[in-house]
Amino acid sequence: MDKRPIGVFDSGLGGLTAVRELRRVLPGETIVYFGDTGRVPYGSRSRDTIIQYAKQDIAFLLSQNVKYIMAACGTVSSILPAEVSGRLPVPYTGVLEAAARAAAKATCIRRIGVIGTAATIRSGSYERLLRALLPDVQVYTRACPMFVPLVENGYLGAGNPITTAIAEEYLAPIRSAGVDTLILGCTHYPLIADVIGKVMGPGVTLIDPGRETADATRTLLAARGLLAEGAGGARYYVSDSIEGFTSTANAFMGRYAGGTVAQIAIDDYELEPQE
Ligand code: DGL
Repeated sequence: MDKRPIGVFDSGLGGLTAVRELRRVLPGETIVYFGDTGRVPYGSRSRDTIIQYAKQDIAFLLSQNVKYIMAACGTVSSILPAEVSGRLPVPYTGVLEAAARAAAKATCIRRIGVIGTAATIRSGSYERLLRALLPDVQVYTRACPMFVPLVENGYLGAGNPITTAIAEEYLAPIRSAGVDTLILGCTHYPLIADVIGKVMGPGVTLIDPGRETADATRTLLAARGLLAEGAGGARYYVSDSIEGFTSTANAFMGRYAGGTVAQIAIDDYELEPQE
C-alpha cells in the first residue's frame, strides 16, 4: 500500500484519455496530471526540444512526490531515451510498449497500421517494437498532424464532416494496405475513435495506448507493492490558463469527476542529474 499519487503527463489535454482509463482500472489511486497546454503541440517539434520539455514535465511530477510516472503522450514515449527514464527515482513508462503488445496480439493477418504525430512516426519506434514482437509483421504508418488541433478544438463526434473528410484523406493508404489492426498512436486520437473506426471499417481493431497502458500500470503497481486503495482523486496542473479546463476535461474524460486545477510555471522545473 503506497498512498503517493501516480504522475501522468502529456503535451496537452489528450493524456486525459489515459487518466480516464487509469481511473477506471485504479479507482483507489490519486492522480497528479500535468498538461503542457502552454507548449502544445510537441509532435511537430524537434527531438531535442521534445526531450527538454519531457524532462521538465517529469521534474514537475517528481516535485509532487509521485510513486510512478506515465508519459501519456505518444510523442514523448517515442522519443525520450530509455537511459533517461532508467535513471529516474520512480518507475516510468510510456504508452508504446503496452499498445504494441496489444496490437501484436490482436492482428490475425500480421498487417498493422500506426497513426501518430509527425515526431512519433518519424521516430520509427512502433515499427521497431512491433518487429521485435512479430518478426514478419507488415507495418503501415501515417502521420496525422491535423488530428490534434481538431480534437483540441472540439471537432468530435462520429458525424463530424470536417474530421471525417480529413480522416478519409489520412487513412486511405492504410485502409488500402488491408490492415486488420490500427494503433491510435497519439493519446488525442481515442477522442475521434468513432470517426476513425467508421473510416477504417468494422473489420479493423483499434488499439488505444492509454487503455492498454492503464491495464499494464495496474499490473506493475501490484507487482511492486505500490497500489493504493483509498478514496481516489485527482489534481490537475497546466502550463497555460486554467480557463475552460473543466469543460474540456469533461469532454475528454466522459466526466471530469472533480479535482483541483492550477497553473504552474513549467520553466521553473529541471530534472536533477541522477548518479
Ligand atoms: N498527445 C500527444 C501524443 O500522444 C500529441 C499532441 C502533440 O503533438 O503534442 O503524441
